[in-house]
Amino acid sequence: MLRIRLSPTLGSSTVLALPVEGDTGGLLPIEPELPAGLTEPAGRFLDDIEHTGAAGTVQALPRPGATPRRLLLVGVGDGDEAGWRAAGAGLSRVAQKDERLTVALGPADPGALRGLVEGLLLASYRFRMGADDPDSAPKLREVKVLVSDPDRYAEGLAAAQVTAEATYLARDLTNWPSQEKTPAWFANRVTRAAARQPALSVSVLGPASLHDEGFGGILAVGGGSDRGPRLVELAYRPRGAKRHVVLIGKGITFDSGGICIKPRDGMKLMRKDMGGAAAVIAATLGAAGLGLPIRVTTLAPLAENMISGNAYRPGDVVRHYGGKTSEITDTDAEGRVVLADALAYATRRLKPDLIVDLATLTGANAVALGKRTAALYSGSDELAEQLAQAATAAGERVWRMPLVDDYVEALDSEVADFVNSTEIGAGSVVAALYLREFVGAARDRWAHLDMSAPSWSDSTDAELVKGATGWGVRTLLRWLADLSTEHVRPPAIR
Ligand code: BES
Ligand code: MN
Ligand code: ZN
Repeated sequence: MLRIRLSPTLGSSTVLALPVEGDTGGLLPIEPELPAGLTEPAGRFLDDIEHTGAAGTVQALPRPGATPRRLLLVGVGDGDEAGWRAAGAGLSRVAQKDERLTVALGPADPGALRGLVEGLLLASYRFRMGADDPDSAPKLREVKVLVSDPDRYAEGLAAAQVTAEATYLARDLTNWPSQEKTPAWFANRVTRAAARQPALSVSVLGPASLHDEGFGGILAVGGGSDRGPRLVELAYRPRGAKRHVVLIGKGITFDSGGICIKPRDGMKLMRKDMGGAAAVIAATLGAAGLGLPIRVTTLAPLAENMISGNAYRPGDVVRHYGGKTSEITDTDAEGRVVLADALAYATRRLKPDLIVDLATLTGANAVALGKRTAALYSGSDELAEQLAQAATAAGERVWRMPLVDDYVEALDSEVADFVNSTEIGAGSVVAALYLREFVGAARDRWAHLDMSAPSWSDSTDAELVKGATGWGVRTLLRWLADLSTEHVRPPAIR
């Protein structure tokens, strides 16, 4: 990961970025003050080129033979965190060929620094399993941020670095090819990462324990694969925590659709079907890294949805943890079948204050909301509002969707408590209603994020790079931080 340093002195920087305001298209005031020989020509150049200051746009001003030898005039829009995030992403792209870059922050608040650093780090993420092409490999190693009072920004810097590191982990796990990424492999990665933090502990249930404890949903979905399912429980128990949150993430390491097999195009990217699990695990490691005073228990039900003589079939009846049953009407609606076990386990055994699950659950998420927005469901207006605010602050998009009670009867089965798939449309809503059945009386302490669409990006766009986005890590870390600073009241528990 790119190194970021805070410094009050310009030194002999070779490439220097100066912020351009969206309002006026002029330079923002810079602190510590820079030589007029630098800022005045930059100001004149800005007038000439009519820089709009739009967040993330960069114009270069070469200064042959001088130091710095290049100025980058970067738009920061409103100069808020979002504007600086876009600016950081824009700079990271323009400066890939330079080894070092200095950015003048100006008299900004710590949010601006956080935005800048997250933008720089997230946009410079790369995933490659083969050798890097030396011509296109990024050379940027270090960014110095010029501020007159580095101490004021130290905390924002740490938050941004931990957030980016956690997002990198979620992206790596999600981009990883499924031939290596088995449930056991994923569980090992979690165990290894957690060993570095004393406040973290991990337990992993394999097929035999899942059987003994009654996790029929995870076993059914994982049954068709030679690589058996796992349930990972990652616990973060800091001292002094007042609240206990459970995070749950869908962890299908490959989704072929099972016997209701997907067509080729629909299957191509299904290594990403564990993006929810990756996000909740990475966010929990991040919360530990930041030392947030909140107890978090994170569940990742992991299974590979494959086809074989042991695969679950349409018409099978699955008994979930806690005893409720599902008639399988579509083996490709497998995410909700593993989540049902985890949700029931969380409400019955862990009894937390709040439960949030993240899942690449339905193609309908993208139909309803497009490629960048997750669907948010909750039985609690307050929890929904908290999550929506955290997402906005973090630069991720959610939109609250209705849990339409009239659709619940579509889940009725003649032989079991529910069917796992219906024909009534509203795919993302129906999936959420199905999940709600497994949280019982905790439904007003539960939220579900269907993040199938934003978990992957088809293009490089601001702080996102093509491929896995690590969606949810940033939202969850903000929300956990908000909850631990008591600014946010927990929803009333009935
Ligand atoms: N993993 C898919 C959902 C998905 C689709 C995620 C596209 C990301 C991109 C999920 O398991 C699935 O197959 N859902 C079905 C549900 C249907 C069978 C009720 C879907 O959305 O079509
Ligand atoms: Mn599926
Ligand atoms: Zn799936």
